[in-house]
Amino acid sequence: MSRILLILLVTTLICFVRETNTQQTVDKICKQTTDIKFCNGIFAKATSPNVKDLLNVTVTEAQRISDDSYFFISSLLLNSGNQRPSVEKCANAYAFLNSLFTDAVSLFNSGRYAEITTRLVDVSSADENCKTDFSVPGYNINPMIEKNRESNVLVALEKILGHMVSS
Ligand SMILES: *[C@@H]1O[C@H](CO)[C@@H](O)[C@H](O)[C@H]1NC(C)=O
Repeated sequence: MSRILLILLVTTLICFVRETNTQQTVDKICKQTTDIKFCNGIFAKATSPNVKDLLNVTVTEAQRISDDSYFFISSLLLNSGNQRPSVEKCANAYAFLNSLFTDAVSLFNSGRYAEITTRLVDVSSADENCKTDFSVPGYNINPMIEKNRESNVLVALEKILGHMVSS
């Protein structure tokens, strides 16, 4: 109970200290995604409600997070044993996703915002491409389940913001 109150208090303080406009814009965008808490975390570094700035933060964070995820699944592949087919499929999915996020950074830097959205339109959800039907040593729950959820939010954010910036 007190922990919930503390979280509420901290959240309220953060929202208060932060420029209200930025938080309002972030809230509106995050409501359209499947993980509002993770989405808010992405924008922790956002300093203005300007959608181009928010897209900048998104492509930068998506690249960073996807590099980490790709590194993680690639390391698993090295010792995957008889689970190799499943792990390899997931690693391939993340290699592809990582290349899309890398492209998004370049597209952003060349001001080709609409293309960020167009390229991501046909991307199927991460959990379709990376079935988490393998076990990961040291984890009770396959950590790729969370990474898939995060990837889906990152793709959604780039689509939403790419569209907002270019329209
Ligand atoms: C994007 O953000 C970085 C800092 O993270 C900044 O250096 C760069 O100028 C920004 N680009 C644009 C186009 O706003």
